[in-house]
Formats: sequence, structure tokens, C-alpha cells
Amino acid sequence: MRAQALVLAILSLATPTIASIDKPYNSQQPFTSTNSGIVGQGDRYDDQQVWRIDWSDYSDVNKQDIMNVIELLNLDVWHSTQSSLDVRLSAKEKDIMGNIIPSESFHPFISDLQSLVEESLNPGEENPEDIDEKFSEISEGLRKKKKNKGKKGKNPKPSIPPIQIDPFNLTTIDTPFHDKFHTLKEIDKFGRTLIETFNGTRGIEITELNLGKTFEGRIIKGWSVKMNPNGNGSIPNPQPIPEPDPNDPEPDPRPLPDDPDHDDPATPAFEKRLWKSDDDLDGMELEFVIQAGQHGREWVGPSSALYFLHHLLLRATTEPNSDPAILLKSFRFTVIPQINPDGYEYSRTKSRLWRKNRQDVGGKGNCLGIDLNSNWGYKWRASKSTACSEGYGGKEAFEAYETKAISEYLSSAAERGNRVRAFVDLHSYGQLFMFPFAHSCDDFPPDAEMLMEAGLGVAKAMRTKQGEGYEAGQACDLTYRAPGDAIDYTYGITDVRWSYSAELRDTGTYGFMLPPKLIRPTADELTAGLMYLAKFIYALEVNPP
Ligand SMILES: *[C@@H]1O[C@H](CO)[C@@H](O)[C@H](O)[C@H]1NC(C)=O
Ligand SMILES: *[C@@H]1O[C@H](CO)[C@@H](O)[C@H](O)[C@H]1NC(C)=O
Ligand SMILES: *[C@@H]1O[C@H](CO)[C@@H](O)[C@H](O)[C@H]1NC(C)=O
Ligand SMILES: [Zn+2]
Repeated sequence: MRAQALVLAILSLATPTIASIDKPYNSQQPFTSTNSGIVGQGDRYDDQQVWRIDWSDYSDVNKQDIMNVIELLNLDVWHSTQSSLDVRLSAKEKDIMGNIIPSESFHPFISDLQSLVEESLNPGEENPEDIDEKFSEISEGLRKKKKNKGKKGKNPKPSIPPIQIDPFNLTTIDTPFHDKFHTLKEIDKFGRTLIETFNGTRGIEITELNLGKTFEGRIIKGWSVKMNPNGNGSIPNPQPIPEPDPNDPEPDPRPLPDDPDHDDPATPAFEKRLWKSDDDLDGMELEFVIQAGQHGREWVGPSSALYFLHHLLLRATTEPNSDPAILLKSFRFTVIPQINPDGYEYSRTKSRLWRKNRQDVGGKGNCLGIDLNSNWGYKWRASKSTACSEGYGGKEAFEAYETKAISEYLSSAAERGNRVRAFVDLHSYGQLFMFPFAHSCDDFPPDAEMLMEAGLGVAKAMRTKQGEGYEAGQACDLTYRAPGDAIDYTYGITDVRWSYSAELRDTGTYGFMLPPKLIRPTADELTAGLMYLAKFIYALEVNPP
């Protein structure tokens, strides 16, 4: 493909077509319930497909050309790597793309999107508003079924119905809570129940955080946990140094020598860092922040974050010498499971594939919303795209209520006596674990070597847990470049040194419509990865040899 010719072809094809596209996906459509009775259905995706474009042989210029078309048409990119791009297309858009991309370079990856969305919404199965009620209904139903069976069955086996655990009985990780996606109400109740169940046990201290309000007035909540080292004298002191993983020779926990590039004038933004010299570490509590939900439709991130928090509390309170118990005495763990409650709610009730927040940004054609992960203020630049674009990053950095709220929390850490040193931002899908920078590979983090080393260990820990492949690397290298990413901000501006973004499952079979039965394995491998990372940091920063 020659770039000039391609652009001309694109423009001649695209321009007349844009006007004739009935409706951008992200226009506000009234929520129309259909007779199929599917909860959460609003927007339909009939005749839409997701294409995977193999662009591994394309030059950067050609890739940019394709991205320009995508911007022009406000297409919805699902996932991008250096070798391929997944994009959602209507029938008309398929024609356009089919005309500009050689046919051997793409294939319909999800050929019937509407069916996949319907399947994932578990028709008729639940009223997501009230899991409690549902739970008792299920139990009731099971009892009845069993009775009937007993009466009619030719060969009635005296079987005991499976023991049902109350989803909000958090004394076990087997709670069915982790086998479902949840409403915001349920997430709040989960947080309250964590406090009721664990606060005060063995020196555990849980704080509920109200981090700010969204455009639609919802509160962004977080739960912050630490363990008082003197909470219960039965825990031995001094603590043993947790080993990252007995089966894993890497990583080497010794600190690496200072990178001479640290003062490279090519990275002037580092002057703004809130970093204190490591001599000032004394007395400051180290904080590890896990955030999820920037993109409304990525449901497995929030669920996995809650599972991680639950796992941490359960093990810390039941096994005094477990890694979680030791780590919680050195780190404060803060989990913000749903930074974008407006977008999540919209995805749950109106438009399953909604990505952005729901902020009115004065866009044309009723287009709403800022892509949160394009709105964080490090080397931020306004894009040409309009509010109708799925990647719209706003008119200025931190224009979104949500990014502003979290940045205020992170940058006020010192006032709380904390140093937020680690930050992991959960997304789906793609099975990647990435460090900064996302906006460009020319901007090289001084800690790249260590970030890579820890990242490789995390990916390995995740792989080992369930056998699903995870890849580690620099964000700009593994995905298509984008400014305004949260990990660029936390690494470039705040005190965070261990800044990562995870793309959880899968690799595209279900994409965002991951079935609930895959929540638990995904969360389990994430937990293994986060524990590995925390131990790596512990060995390096808390208890160096
Ligand atoms: C919670 O679950 C555990 C383990 O399944 C069980 O032993 C306990 O009785 C349950 N607690 C309540 C209050 O139901
Ligand atoms: C947790 O328990 C401590 C006392 O152990 C108490 O001061 C605090 O208010 C409790 N937190 C919550 C959120 O209830
Ligand atoms: C300390 O832990 C023991 C169990 O090892 C428990 O019986 C005791 O109640 C705990 N004490 C406090 C103050 O939490
Ligand atoms: Zn995302």
C-alpha cells in the first residue's frame, strides 16, 4: 500500500459514507426493552462483526492511515497490538474497510456480535438488582425441584442438594459472589460486608474511601486496608522475607544500579515528580493502589479487583505467617474497583459495549463521554477526534470527573503520611502486563529494567497459576500508542515507581463478554500476579538484603 494513494482512497470512500451512516454507535438511544426480556439489553448490534486486522507487515505510516480512518468513522477499537487490531464494524463500515484493506489481512473474528452479547447476558437468569432475593429464589427453586423429583423419579436417589453459600458470606473465597458480575449496589454491599467481616480481626483496619463524584452524581468508592503490626502478639517478629516464588529463579531481588539515564534532559517531566529521595522513606507508609473499570464494558477487571481484596483479607486473618499477612503489615493496599460507575451502569443497563464515562462534553450529535484512559495529565495532548469518538480524551487533561478525583487522591498521599509506590490499572482484554510509557516508546522510564523484570515475573506467576498465557512488556510496544494513559501519569508525575496496566482475559474469543464462569480463574491468576509484584517490591524497598 502506498500511503498517499491510501489516504485518497480512504477519503473518497469514507466521506460520502459517513453522512449516510445511520447512527454512530455511541449516540444516545433511548433504552428500549425488547420482547426477549434480556436484562441489560438496549443498544443492539445486529449485522455487526468484530474484525481482526493482521497488520504485522504494515509500515507505521500504513498503520497510521488505518487509525486515521478509524478516527474519521468513529470506529470502536477493541484491542490493538503491534501485529493486529480488533475493530467493531457495521455492515457499511465493513464495506469501507474491505475496500481499503487487502482481504488477506483481515477476517471476521466475531461474526455475529448480537448473538454473543445476548448469550453473555444470561437471558432470564437474574434480576441484577437484587442478588439476595435471587439467592433465596434459587434455593427455593432447588428445594422444590428436589421434592418433585423425589415424587416422580423412578429411581429416587437420596441426594442432598448442594450446599448454598450466601454470596455475602465472606468467610470463604468459595462464595458464589465471585461467580457473577455485579451491580454497583452489590459492589457497595460487598465492601460493607468486608468491613463487617474483617475490620478489627487480627489488627486489620479497613477504611471505605469516597474518592469523588461522577458527572451523574455517583460516588467513586475505594477500600483501603492495612494490618497493624502489633495488632496481635501471636504473629512473630521480625518478619521473614517472603520469597517471590520458590520455583522461580527470577527475578533477582537485589536492587539494580542506578540508571545513568535518570537525569536525561530528554525526560524533563520528571522534574515534576513528587518523588522524595529514598532517605525520606522512614515513617511513610507504602501504598499499593489497584484500580479497575476505566472502561465501562470491561467487567472482569472490577470483579477481579474485589476477589483480590477478599483473598488478601481472608488469608491475612486466617494464616498469620502467610504472604498477605506479612505484606499487609508493610503496605497499605487500596482497591478502587470501579472508577467509572456511570459508564459501568450504562454498560449494564443500556449499551453493553459502552466504554467511556457519561460526561456531557458539549459534543455534537448528542455524543457523550470522555475516554478516561486518554485523559490523565502526563504529556497529554488534545486529539483531533470529537466527542463521538470512542477514544475521545477531552478538551484538557483531567476534564473527566473520575480521572481528576483519582489524581487528587494519588497526589495527596504525602498529606496522609503515605507514599503510593505501586499502581496497577486493570483492563480487559488481551492478557498483557505492561509498564510505561504508553504514549510513546521514545519516552523511556529510568526504571525500565526493573519494571520489565518484575513484569516478567508477574506474567510468569499468572501463567503458572492457570496455564493461560500472559505477556509482559512496555505499553507502547505491546499496544497501539496513546497519550493520556493512567500509568503514564502515575509513573511520570506522582510518586509511583511500580506502575502497570493489565489487560486481563481473554484473547478475543469472548472479548468484553467474558462468561461469568471465567471470573474466578481470571481473578485467581491476577491475584497470583499481584502477590508476586508486592513481594518483589517488598524485597526491594521494604526489606532489602
Ligand atoms: C459461611 O460459610 C461458612 C463456610 O461455608 C459456614 O461455615 C458458615 O456457617 C457460614 N456463615 C453464615 C453466617 O452463614
Ligand atoms: C474498624 O475498626 C476500628 C477499630 O478497630 C474502628 O475505629 C473503625 O471505625 C472501623 N472502621 C469501619 C469502617 O467501621
Ligand atoms: C490473637 O490471636 C489469637 C489466635 O492466634 C486469638 O485467639 C486472639 O483472640 C487474638 N487476640 C486479639 C486481641 O485479636
Ligand atoms: Zn480498558
